[in-house]
Amino acid sequence: MRAFEDDIERVLISEEEIRSRVQEIGNKISKDYNEEHDVVAIGILKGASIFFADLVRAIKLPLMFDFMIVSSYGEASISSGEVNIKKELEFDVHGKDVILMEDIIDTGITMSCVRKIMSGRGANSVKLAALLDKPERRKVELDIDYLGFTTPDEFLVGYGLDYAERYRNLPYVGILKREIYE
Ligand code: IMP
Ligand code: MG
Repeated sequence: MRAFEDDIERVLISEEEIRSRVQEIGNKISKDYNEEHDVVAIGILKGASIFFADLVRAIKLPLMFDFMIVSSYGEASISSGEVNIKKELEFDVHGKDVILMEDIIDTGITMSCVRKIMSGRGANSVKLAALLDKPERRKVELDIDYLGFTTPDEFLVGYGLDYAERYRNLPYVGILKREIYE
């Protein structure tokens, strides 16, 4: 085992579990849309990069790719509905069917703001696909249209998720040892 894997308390969701769940979500999305839709898959970088890459390949529909980098101002975003857009989309989403792809929903603040921004720009529809959900930490109401797994309130890394920019390349979702971040 390489050194950085020693920082993992245990594997929460294995590579195989992720693979089959992502396939199921891709099948569901492929059924929910048709040729009338003009789908844009929007990956929220960097966390969703791996989930995005796997999920889009499981969707049997023509679609476009775009990416955003956003961070919320925390609690301040709840009332203002504002997030800090660090990388803007390339395309105008007006009239498009947007599928937002995110790694994990925690407080829900970030994605609830991004959803509102997409609707405000005149998207025809906005759906949210998230690999993971930590419902215990939710601060705002948020519908997740396509969800991979509900997780306990632990700090998770791997399959795109980081701690201090590390561990994103682990092929599974693991629980980070507390001693690493405490
Ligand atoms: P929120 O839902 O606005 O609180 O923000 C969710 C964001 O917080 C995600 O996109 C992640 O970047 C980050 N995040 C939340 N929980 C975790 C975790 O357990 N591991 C790594 N990143 C996390
Ligand atoms: Mg993120």
